[in-house]
Formats: sequence, C-alpha cells, structure tokens
Amino acid sequence: MDYSVAVEFKDVSFQYQHGSKGFLMEDISFSVPQGTKFAIAGPNGAGKTTLLKMIVGLNTPIKGEVRVFDKIVNKENFDEIRREVGFVFQNPDNQVFATTCFEDVAFGPRNLGLPENEVEEIVYDALRKMGMEEWKDYSPFNLSFGQKKRVAIAGVLAMDPKMLIFDEPYANLDLPTTIALIKLLNEITQEKELAILFASHDQRFHKWSENLLVLNRGKMIFCGPTVEGLQNEIVKEALGDPSELDELLGTL
Ligand SMILES: Nc1ncnc2c1ncn2[C@@H]1O[C@H](COP(=O)(O)OP(=O)(O)OP(=O)(O)O)[C@@H](O)[C@H]1O
Ligand SMILES: [Mg+2]
Repeated sequence: MDYSVAVEFKDVSFQYQHGSKGFLMEDISFSVPQGTKFAIAGPNGAGKTTLLKMIVGLNTPIKGEVRVFDKIVNKENFDEIRREVGFVFQNPDNQVFATTCFEDVAFGPRNLGLPENEVEEIVYDALRKMGMEEWKDYSPFNLSFGQKKRVAIAGVLAMDPKMLIFDEPYANLDLPTTIALIKLLNEITQEKELAILFASHDQRFHKWSENLLVLNRGKMIFCGPTVEGLQNEIVKEALGDPSELDELLGTL
C-alpha cells in the first residue's frame, strides 16, 4: 500500500446530471503529497465542494481518475477510503445526527469495533479538543451552527484519519475557535504525517497551505505553491482584493 500520495486527480471532468445550470468541471489534475497542506480556493459556485466530494466518492467523475492513497475511488474501495479520510462538510447539518453530542462522536469509533472504555476516552478527548465537552449530553440539533460544526470536527478527529478534508472549516466559527482549530491542526500535523485539504474562499487561510488550487467556474486557473498563487494576477482577479473591502468599510 502506497501512502506517499494522499490524493491524485488525473484529467478529471465532472458534470451534475440535473439542475446544475450547465456547471462543468474540466481537466482537473493535481496531487497532494502525504503530510502536506493543500488549499482549494475560488469564488462561490466555483466548484470547491464539488471537487472535494469526488475524493470520497460522493461525486463520480465523467472522465479521468481520482485516487486516494493509490486506491481508485470506486465502490469496492469506498469503505477503506472513508475509514482513512475524515471529511468535515461545509454544513454540519449534513453530518451531525445522533441524539447527543457524545453519541454523535462515538458513532465512528464504535463502528470500528473499539471497546466501550476506549470509545469513551476517544470521545472525551475529541470533544475537549473542540471545546465541546460540557455539551456532551446535549442534543446537537439545539446547538448553534458553529457549535454543531465543532461537534462534526470532533467526530472526524475521533476516527484518527490519515487525511483530513475540511470544506470551509472556518465559516461560522468565532475567532477564538478558529485560532484554537488552527493550533490544533498544527499540533496534529506535527505529531503524525497527515494531509489536510481545505476549501475556503477566505484568503486569510490560504497562506497556511504549501500548495494551492484555484477554481473559477469549474476551471482550474492555478495549481502550485501557495506563495506563487497569491501573487498571480489571474488568481487575484478571481478571488478579489481584500484591501477593497478594508477601504469600503473604512469609508462607508
Ligand atoms: N447537487 C447538485 N446538483 C446540481 N448542481 C449542483 C449541485 N451542487 C452544486 N451544484 C452546482 O455546481 C456549482 C458548483 O457548486 P459548489 O458547491 O461546488 O461550489 P463552491 O465553490 O463550493 O461554492 P461555495 O463557495 O458557495 O461553497 C454551482 O453552480 C452549483 O449550483
Ligand atoms: Mg462549497
């Protein structure tokens, strides 16, 4: 088993079958070495979520090949891939479903057949890391969006994945939680070799990655070192200029 490359896209194209207003993603090729951070940028509707879902088989390419740890993403490999890849969805309502936060985070480790005392330890640890321990007996449905997201992240961490995928991880998280999550992810990546892929339209977070892929209307307009991407004129135009916002807020 080859674990040196976390994700590889080879000439991948994708189209939604219904109701996508002709959205087409074409000729996407990139690879993410294990142990590195990879950002996916692009304006709303560019295809970031669409692309991430292909990694875990929630979207199937119409052309090309997606590999995770050298395994082709297909039905035969789904179970193994989903065991190795922790996916935090953009909207935690798609992810958090048990009656209490504890049960929600326990679902994954229990599925792995771990003994209950070990499950308990893992769940408390994950909830504590996300600052949600005191909510353990509370129903996730009554939590705020940001709190639900923290529980969803705890659930993913509890599975001890080999790769983490975050779709807009920081959207709706307050500043202290955002900072705590970045610190935690830095710690995790120092402890073990782990690839982190994250989609964000917020430019402040791209710098954290070694490599950057920029999408615009389903097209890959840049893929390479993040420092280069953030200087690229085409990328700047697609992502917008943050100083324009500063200026507007200052003058209005
Ligand atoms: N399930 C679906 N069926 C049909 N079309 C879809 C579906 N999901 C997304 N689309 C369309 O595909 C395009 C890309 O959507 P996607 O959610 O991947 O964008 P995104 O870059 O993640 O945007 P955002 O920044 O808003 O999260 C959009 O035009 C969207 O309308
Ligand atoms: Mg999205």
